[in-house]
Amino acid sequence: MNDPAWLDARLNDWRRRGLERELWTAPPSSSDILNFADNDYLDLSRHPDVIAGAITALQNNGTGARASRVMAGNLPCHRTLERRLADLKGYPDALLFGSGFLANLGVMTALAGRGDAVLIDRLAHASLIDGARLSGARIWRFKHNDPDHLHALLQQIPETARRLVVTESVFSMDGDRAPLRTIAQVAANGNALLLFDEAHATGVFGEAGAGLMHPGETEDQPTVVIGTLSKALGAYGGFAVCSDKMRTYLIQRARSFTYSTALPPAAVGAALAALDICRREPQPGRELLRRAARFRKHLQAGGANTGASASQIVPVMLGDNTHALQLADALRRHNIFCLAIRPPTVPAGSARIRFSVTLRHQDADLDRTADRTLDIMRRHGLL
Ligand SMILES: Cc1ncc(COP(=O)(O)O)c(C=O)c1O
Repeated sequence: MNDPAWLDARLNDWRRRGLERELWTAPPSSSDILNFADNDYLDLSRHPDVIAGAITALQNNGTGARASRVMAGNLPCHRTLERRLADLKGYPDALLFGSGFLANLGVMTALAGRGDAVLIDRLAHASLIDGARLSGARIWRFKHNDPDHLHALLQQIPETARRLVVTESVFSMDGDRAPLRTIAQVAANGNALLLFDEAHATGVFGEAGAGLMHPGETEDQPTVVIGTLSKALGAYGGFAVCSDKMRTYLIQRARSFTYSTALPPAAVGAALAALDICRREPQPGRELLRRAARFRKHLQAGGANTGASASQIVPVMLGDNTHALQLADALRRHNIFCLAIRPPTVPAGSARIRFSVTLRHQDADLDRTADRTLDIMRRHGLL
């Protein structure tokens, strides 16, 4: 093999610092293993109606979309799903992307460029940071969930620069929620466009899973709200909701939309069926949040630090990479599948276990997991 010499040095360095990522095989759904490491929050990826929706779309349209939407890949089911997503979020229109990551790259590079300013929460997801970098705009990182700091930064930006404020409504690794209304107000006062990423809120929060940024939430409506079909909706793909005019603009300028093959029909059919379930059933997200709150309280009562979690994502903060690896290993030996989240996914010194609570987990499973976690932490001197 003709691998460069620096490869070994890099890999060994990550290994030594407890930072190497491994590809674990997901536990099969038929096993007794409790899986806390996926984002199938509503347990829809194996729901018979979602599978049936995928099969019907597959049979009607084939396995692939065969081209970009701007070529011959634009199928009626894409438009149907866009209209459903726009309705759900209370926006005039929507545009589908190949994934949530691609939606963020495409939208951010279309909305900001050289000479502009992107103001982004310090803990924002990698796709948002990469979107900001790729845009060529100057990046201003505001303190996590701190509208005052955002305001102060906005004051420093030259009047002539276009501004784009970017944050998440539910943070992927902390499970805490942004002060959406205040941030929207500060952005509006600072004459900035606003992008909210609802990847982890869609399907879980709000009426029929609309997310946290739903109609009536604020007068200062974000310019674009991003979501994903790949987490609570159990399918695959990403989307942006926005005005009609903005959609038309994104079709011209969002390169990850224009120059990439359209979503496969099966993913579209699955997402449409998942949206039907969210609308039909009495708020599955509400039950999920109840279970997550109970789990969080149990961990906290035992002395674990769950940070500012206020969602189905419940971290147990450890700080040290090795401690996080130790706890994850010990839990896996007890058939509790979870992973240690370390830098660069989270800031240095804030390694943690990220428990992703889903509707697969019953109260008894969550009690057992919390007890086991606390027990191992005590035995390893981590409490
Ligand atoms: C906040 C946030 N945005 C975007 C994404 C990317 O979404 P997708 O998995 O659909 O690419 C993620 C995925 O982890 C995320 O956490």
